[in-house]
Amino acid sequence: MSDYQSFSQLIKKETGIDLSQYKEVQMKRRLTSLRDKKGYQDFNSFYKALTSDNVLMDEFLNKITINVSEFYRNSARWNVLEKKVIPQLLNKKEKLKIWSAACSTGDEPYTLAMMLSQYIDLSRVNILATDIDEKILERAKKGVYTERALKEVPEDLKKKFFVQQDSDYIIDEKLKKSITFKKHNLLSDPYPKGFDLIVCRNVLIYFTEKAKENIYYNFNASLHPQGVFFVGSTEQIFTPEKYGFKVLDTFFYQKIEKTYN
Ligand SMILES: C[S@@+](CC[C@H](N)C(=O)[O-])C[C@H]1O[C@@H](n2cnc3c(N)ncnc32)[C@H](O)[C@@H]1O
Repeated sequence: MSDYQSFSQLIKKETGIDLSQYKEVQMKRRLTSLRDKKGYQDFNSFYKALTSDNVLMDEFLNKITINVSEFYRNSARWNVLEKKVIPQLLNKKEKLKIWSAACSTGDEPYTLAMMLSQYIDLSRVNILATDIDEKILERAKKGVYTERALKEVPEDLKKKFFVQQDSDYIIDEKLKKSITFKKHNLLSDPYPKGFDLIVCRNVLIYFTEKAKENIYYNFNASLHPQGVFFVGSTEQIFTPEKYGFKVLDTFFYQKIEKTYN
C-alpha cells in the first residue's frame, strides 16, 4: 500500500472522510502541495502532525472540501430551472420539497428560495441544504456575503433580499425560514427521500466514477417520480437511463416513472 493510500485509510478513521472515493490524481496533488508547504516529507509524518494540530487539521479539511460558490452560478442554467423546470414542478405539486446537496456557503439554497419566492409563498417550499463541512454550514446559516458572490443576482432580487452593511451583504431572514441546513456526507450517510428537485452541483467532479454511480442511484431513489436532478455545468451524465433518468434539458435529469406490466 502506498504512503498516500495508508494516509487515506487513517484519515477515514479519524474524520469519516473517505479520500479513496475522490479522484486520486487531483486530490493527491492538492494534498501534496499542502503537505510540502507545511514542511512534511511524506504522508505518514503529515498525518501525525494533523492529529496533533487542530489548526492544521482545519486547513487540511478546507483543502479537501473546496467551498467556492456563488449565487446563480452559471446563470443560464438557473434560467432554465426558473422558466422550464419550476413551472413543470408547480403544475403538479402544491408544495415543493428540494434538496441542495453540497451547498457550501448557502448561495445555492438561498438562490432557490429567492427564485421560488417570485412564484409561490415560501411556506410551500421546504429546502434541505446539506454539506459535509460543518464550518461552512455555520457560515451558510449566518448568510453574510461579499459583493462578488452576488454578481449574478438580478438587481430587483438583490434589493429585496439583501441588506448592505459596509462591504457585506446580509441575507433576509425570511428566506432562512424555508431552509434547513444539515451535515450530510454524500459518500457515506443514508440519503433522505421524497424530493421534487435535487440540486447537486460542482462536487461530483471531484469523485471517482464508482462513487458518482452510487450517488446517481441514491439521488434517483431520493426523488419522487418525475422529480428532477440538476447537476453542475461540467457534470453531464452520459448514460442517464442506466440510473433511472432521462434528459429534461442540458444538465437537468428527470426521474423516469417505472411502468409495471
Ligand atoms: C465547490 S463547492 C460547490 C458549492 C455549490 N454546490 C455550487 O455549485 O456553487 C463543493 C462543496 O462540496 C462539499 N463536499 C465535498 N465532499 C463532500 C461529500 N462527500 N459530501 C457532501 N458534501 C461534500 C464541500 O464541502 C463543498 O462545500
